[in-house]
Amino acid sequence: MCGIIGYIGKKQAYPIIINGLKKMEYRGYDSYGICVLNGDDVFLKRKVGRISEESSENGCEGFISIGHSRWATTGGVSEKNAHPQEYNQFYVVHNGIIENYKELKEELTLKGHIFSSDTDTEVIAHLISEEFKGNLEDATKKALKRIIGSYGIAVISPKDKGKIVVAKLSSPIILGITDDGYIVASDPSAVINYTKQIVTLDDNEIAILKEDGYTISKDKKIETIDWESDAVDKGVYEHFMLKEIMEEPKVIESAIQGRLLEDNVKLGGLELPKERLKKTDKIYLIGCGTGYYASKVGEYLMEEIGMVDAEAHMGSEIRYRDVRLNPNQTAIFVSQSGETADNLACLKKMKEAKVLSLGVTNVIGSTQTRETEGGVYTRCGPEIAVASTKAFIGQITVLLMIALFLGRQRGLEEGKAKEIITELKNISKKGEIVLSEAEEIKKIAEKYSQYKNFFFIGRKFNYPIAMEGALKLKEISYVHAEGVTGGELKHGPLALIDENCPTIAICPKDSVYDKMLSNIEEVKARKGKVIAIATRGDKKIKEIADDVIYIPETLECLTPLLSAMPLHLFAYFFALALGKDIDKPRNLAKSVTVE
Ligand code: F6R
Repeated sequence: MCGIIGYIGKKQAYPIIINGLKKMEYRGYDSYGICVLNGDDVFLKRKVGRISEESSENGCEGFISIGHSRWATTGGVSEKNAHPQEYNQFYVVHNGIIENYKELKEELTLKGHIFSSDTDTEVIAHLISEEFKGNLEDATKKALKRIIGSYGIAVISPKDKGKIVVAKLSSPIILGITDDGYIVASDPSAVINYTKQIVTLDDNEIAILKEDGYTISKDKKIETIDWESDAVDKGVYEHFMLKEIMEEPKVIESAIQGRLLEDNVKLGGLELPKERLKKTDKIYLIGCGTGYYASKVGEYLMEEIGMVDAEAHMGSEIRYRDVRLNPNQTAIFVSQSGETADNLACLKKMKEAKVLSLGVTNVIGSTQTRETEGGVYTRCGPEIAVASTKAFIGQITVLLMIALFLGRQRGLEEGKAKEIITELKNISKKGEIVLSEAEEIKKIAEKYSQYKNFFFIGRKFNYPIAMEGALKLKEISYVHAEGVTGGELKHGPLALIDENCPTIAICPKDSVYDKMLSNIEEVKARKGKVIAIATRGDKKIKEIADDVIYIPETLECLTPLLSAMPLHLFAYFFALALGKDIDKPRNLAKSVTVE
């Protein structure tokens, strides 16, 4: 979705803006633009298409600039609708939606304003022009008072030189502090090549950036992003998705680092809400897409290890439901970006009902981390591929630790906790073993790459993994795939099984193993092909399944971490065999900031 970048300082701004836009490409966009100020001279470029073809050599002189990558919402994909939007020499880049833009446009048109685009954003430039009496921040403040909706904006004008005015409401904005100036961005990946020191703007705050300093209405903490700058490069890999899958064992390591005790866990973000968590009698786990499937694994973990009732919900659904909410409940929001609008709307509902809100989030300083009362970072580093992979592994690891924490508050036996923690320390090594089979998995993916329909089945902890495997396959290869529980197969989906519809069955040696074997038999009896994900050493499965991908033996509650990895690789190699645009699948955006 849309990305904002701006720079003011001692360096030439143009290359910084172009590089920043390139770093945000992964979010998905259809057009882009840049505006550079050099005294009274204004350079404005807006284009439809890919920024990757743009050279980051200095395209024009100037030390103040704003840029934008647009994912069209109001107004089609065209140069005139790309940002920066301009009126009367006021230049605006905007993320979000102005809900009352039609009324405002009508009012301004009656006053004689002529509009040159179909966007809602242009209204902001017109309002600023109306209010301008010589000071850009005052005019911007007044203009924003007229607006209903959400926005992250950056504004510049040669009429009030030497500054960028930045504001936000329900759309993320961070300021990066560098030795030579300031960068404003909607996404940390756009700044980490220049600085790791950031300040995050809160809703309704306005910042004024100048070459030698910045002001915000109140003092703000400078945070450090612990992402490596090479994390936003592909390195030796052909695609970000493959790089990120290969990082999955490292993600587990980083999520548990410094957080495991002998028979408990130490999670800084749960210290304050500790006493309320003790009283919690129900946990809601809320996410969307892959975040929802991690939540679903979390549901089983909370019940079995956390010893507390739990329900996983999609953010887009629970907010419209009449669930009985009360202060003795906790809602855990699970999100890579921390900006998913469906989750954030639901977070508002939970807070209104005084439910304790926690976040399991990857992006530091994101709205979810600031709006929740506590939480735990997944520490995955930037995830660039649109399809989420390593973030899923980080989310499950963190949810497992939260479950352990809750369990120890509720009488989970010390011995059981120790056993899980000991295995958790080993699991990343086992993950490396799984990924070392990549070439084998590639062969299997190629073998099945001409099929157009797939079922993924699993039970208990691996039911959400079946859904995750199916989602990954469909979103990057565009073939139809459905994830169901093994138990549901004979209640309907079995009607679709034949020699043209293979099934991927997740059946490690666990408490539902025998039931899964029966499900595989049901598929085989209908001439369906079966690819099994099974525990190393399981000979029986080899006799029934057509192909087997082995994972090392582990505790049942930890199997999802290992079984998800080959499914991520399977989806990747399948899409590779079909020649798809893996990192940027059609119609999808990385961060879904509209409901
Ligand atoms: C799937 C995928 C999406 C996201 C979903 C939530 O591969 O990437 O389903 O998981 O849009 O995004 P976050 O985690 O940012 O809330």
